[in-house]
Order: sequence, then structure tokens, then C-alpha cells
Amino acid sequence: MGVLRNWLDRRLDIGSIREGLVDRPMPGNLTWWHTLGSATLAVFTVQVVTGIVLGMYYSPSPDHAYDSIRYLEHSVTSGALLRGVHHWGASAMVVLVLAHMIRVFSMGAYKYPRELNWVLGIVLLFVVLGFSFTGYLLPWDQKAYWATQVGTNIAGTTPFVGGALVKLLRGGTQLGAATLTRFYALHVLLFPVLLGAFALMHLVQVIRQGIAPRTKVLEQSPPTRTDDPAYAEYYKAQYAGSKRSGVRFWPDIIAKDVVVAAVVIVVLVLLAKFSGAGLEPPADPTDTTYIPRPEWYFLPFFQLLKLVPGSLESAVAVGVPGALVLALLALPFFDRRSMRSLRHRPAAAFSMFFILGGAGLLLGASFRGEKLGAIATEVGRPLTSIERAGRALFKARNCGACHAIGDQKPDTSSDTPNAPELTEVGLHHSAAWMHSFMEDPFRFHADSKMPSFGPPKLTHEEIEEITRYLSSLRGLKWATAKQEFHDTFPEPVKRTEKP
Ligand code: HEC
Repeated sequence: MGVLRNWLDRRLDIGSIREGLVDRPMPGNLTWWHTLGSATLAVFTVQVVTGIVLGMYYSPSPDHAYDSIRYLEHSVTSGALLRGVHHWGASAMVVLVLAHMIRVFSMGAYKYPRELNWVLGIVLLFVVLGFSFTGYLLPWDQKAYWATQVGTNIAGTTPFVGGALVKLLRGGTQLGAATLTRFYALHVLLFPVLLGAFALMHLVQVIRQGIAPRTKVLEQSPPTRTDDPAYAEYYKAQYAGSKRSGVRFWPDIIAKDVVVAAVVIVVLVLLAKFSGAGLEPPADPTDTTYIPRPEWYFLPFFQLLKLVPGSLESAVAVGVPGALVLALLALPFFDRRSMRSLRHRPAAAFSMFFILGGAGLLLGASFRGEKLGAIATEVGRPLTSIERAGRALFKARNCGACHAIGDQKPDTSSDTPNAPELTEVGLHHSAAWMHSFMEDPFRFHADSKMPSFGPPKLTHEEIEEITRYLSSLRGLKWATAKQEFHDTFPEPVKRTEKP
């Protein structure tokens, strides 16, 4: 044993690796929050391992993708469990990365000397989101197809480059076989390499600079700004001091990391066991009635899009995330005050609670499908151009004088007939029925109070646009409610044959 160790030591210099990695001194009193980065790394490892096995069964073509996943789910031992872990692992990555960012933000750990590692962290967040976006399409079921349709449409609203971006993502104008192979290549070739490389750089920096200490260590009468030439000296002295009174990476720090990683992995397995990844019917590009649902962590963003008027939608779709990212990237370069604890950074604390609180409210609203503004009763996605045209006609033709939609109630003081609320009309009537009804309500009810809107009042095209809009109205429970039609059509008008 000893001989072997000496032999290896002379060649690999294990002693200095031990000193630099395993025995390295760390600041004392680190919190459990300090383990989030390593927990993310642990889940990434789980994703790599489960991903490799999934890749052995998966076939990236529209003809076979769905069947290969169904085979894995139903016929491979532990296949469903494996896929479930990969599925929940993807959510866990996003949650852990965000939690880690919140920790770093609230401890001011992005400040000197860790500015570049913060930027690297944001790049990593994007690679993680890229993984999630491309992975979502791979099962090629309805959910996959339509969420990607919406996602690429939103990318298409980017000013100037939108059209080109959509073509680049889809591998053409339509979502199809080229999109699937493209997403697969990104998901299994490009992103793993990017994530591996950036995560390694991130980690090497953490090891070289040491982990950020508790905030009070660096708040013992420091120079007020980190770009003060004296700050570097101050930092060095304080950090060295905290390491002297600190602990060693092994076993003190690693023990905490291992506990957290183990808990996270057990939770993933339990989630996978009791609530798998799920598989909807195969993708059907002709089924335009399907309501796409994005991954839950995109829901606040979708809810936000539902709140803004149609004309501002594309500006918000690109502007809000764009501005947020730029602000995060710029943060360590303009915030150079040396105070780190949130208690001494009111503006930072306020922005953080504002953004997180807002996102939380939007997420909650989206889960409950709550009424937030006038148009929140529509499906949980931006309306298509035809649906928007229908919405405009609905207003222009004053349908709202009799019909309520969500918060938009007709003026009850006027002597309009009592008309049914249309808030969830899309759940109860088929599009075909609504089209025929609007065309000639009297064929349906001889004593109908609803005026007829058939040509020449509205063209068939316009009626169809309104119909599409009405079909999108699924009430407050759009995410969960099922459509159920019991439509009856009147007897066709009999043509009296002329002799
Ligand atoms: C003068 C009031 C009035 C106006 C204006 C009006 N409707 Fe109606 N609508 C009614 C009434 C009343 C009913 C109830 C059914 C009946 O009486 O036949 C109805 C029924 C409906 C229904 C069937 C709802 C259900 O759940 O059965 C739809 C769809 C509808 N209207 C759409 C429209 C659209 C679209 C417009 C505008 C182009 C419009 N309505 C304008 C009074 C109105």
C-alpha cells in the first residue's frame, strides 16, 4: 500500500493536491446556504448519468421519438423512474441555481474579488435554461410540441433578428424533424460541453479565491468602496484572518455538502417515484385547440405577458428578461460599495424582494388561474394574431354591451337583455357551434335575444376570428379544466324542391 502510494505520489504529486483541495482551510461559520452551489453540481452529475442512459433508448426523429419514450416508460426496468429523476432533476437545477444566486446576491458575494465568477454564474444559468428548453421538446408529445411552438414564437418577437432567430431555432419556418434533431444536438452535445467547461471554471475560481465568508467578516470598518486601492489589502487581511480561525474543507465542509446533496437526490427519487415525468398523446401539429403549458418556472413570465396589452406584448416579452439580465451582469461593476449584508443595502434588498415577490405573486396567480386584469381569463399563452383580431372585433362590435368576460362586465343600467357570461365559453361550446350560432341565433332559439351577426353584418372570416377568440376563453381554471361540449345544432333548413 505504502509503496504504491509513494510511487503514485512521486508521479502525481498527490501531496500538493491534498493540500490544495482536501485540506484547504476555509472560513468558519459557513451557513447551510453555502452548500447550494455544490448541490447544483451534484444534481448536474445525476442529470449526466440519467441522461446517458436515456440517450441509449431515445431516437431523435418525429417518427420514433414518442415511441422510444413510451417504450422506455412502459417496457424498460426502472425506465419510468430514470426518466422521472431526469425530469425532476431539470427543475431542481433551475431551483438550485436560482437559490444559489439569491444566496450570493444577499451576501454581497458578487463583490470584489468575485465579480467575474458572478458573470460566469449568469452564463451558467442560461446554459441551464437552454438545457431545459431543448429537453422539453424531446419526448415529442403534445406538451413538448406546443410549448416549443410558443417558446420559439416568443423568440420571434425579438426586434430585428426575430425572424432569423426562429428559423435558426426551428431549422426552418416550421417546427418539425429539423427542430427535433437540432434541439437534440444542443441538448446532448453542445450544452453538456458548455456547462461542463463553465462549471469547471466557476469551481476552479471558487477553490482559488476561497468561498465567500459570512458578511460580518468583511464589514469590520472596511474602506467604503471596493475600488479604493486600500480595499484589496483590507480584504486579504480579513479573509486570511477568517481562515485562520476557520475549518478545513475535509471533513467539516464536505460533510455539509454531502448531506445536502444526499437529501436533494432522495427528494428527486421520491418525486420521480410518486409523480413521473408523464407523457401526453403524441404531438399533433394540426390540433390547434391544445393549450400549451410551459415549465412552471416560466409561468410568472407568461402571466406577466397576459397582463400587458397586445401592442406591448412583444416589447415586454423581450424587454423584461433582457433588462433583468443586463442589470444582473452589470451589478458587480456598478455596485462597488463595500457593505455586503442586505441590512446595509436597502436598495438591493428592496429590488430583490420586489422581483422575487412579484414573480411569486405571478406564479401563484398563474397556478390559481386567478383573474388578474381583464384578459387573464384567456388561455395561458399569448393569443395568436387571429385570436387578437377576434378580440378586437368583439370590442368593436360591442358584444361586451351584453356579454361579460372576466372583469369586463356590461353596463347593467342600460336595458340590454340578460346575456350569458362568456368567461369560459371555450370550455362549453365547440368552435363550429359558436360560428353557426353567431351567424344566426334564431335558428337555435326562436326567441333569441342575441342579434344575428351573419353576413353582411360580419363576414364569415370575421365570425371565424371572433370564434377563435371565444374558443381561447377557458375561464379561471384554464390550466386544469377540460373542454366538454354538448352542442346541439338545429335541423338544417329544408330546401323546398321546385318542381
Ligand atoms: C343585445 C345583446 C347581445 C349582443 C350585442 C350580443 N349578444 Fe351574444 N347573446 C345574447 C343573448 C341574450 C344570448 C343568450 C342566448 C339566446 O338568447 O339565444 C347570447 C348568446 C351568445 C353566445 C352563446 C353563449 C352560450 O353560452 O350559450 C355566444 C357565443 C355569443 N352570444 C356571442 C356573441 C358575440 C361574439 C357578440 C358580438 C359579435 C354578441 N354575442 C353580441 C345577447 C347579445
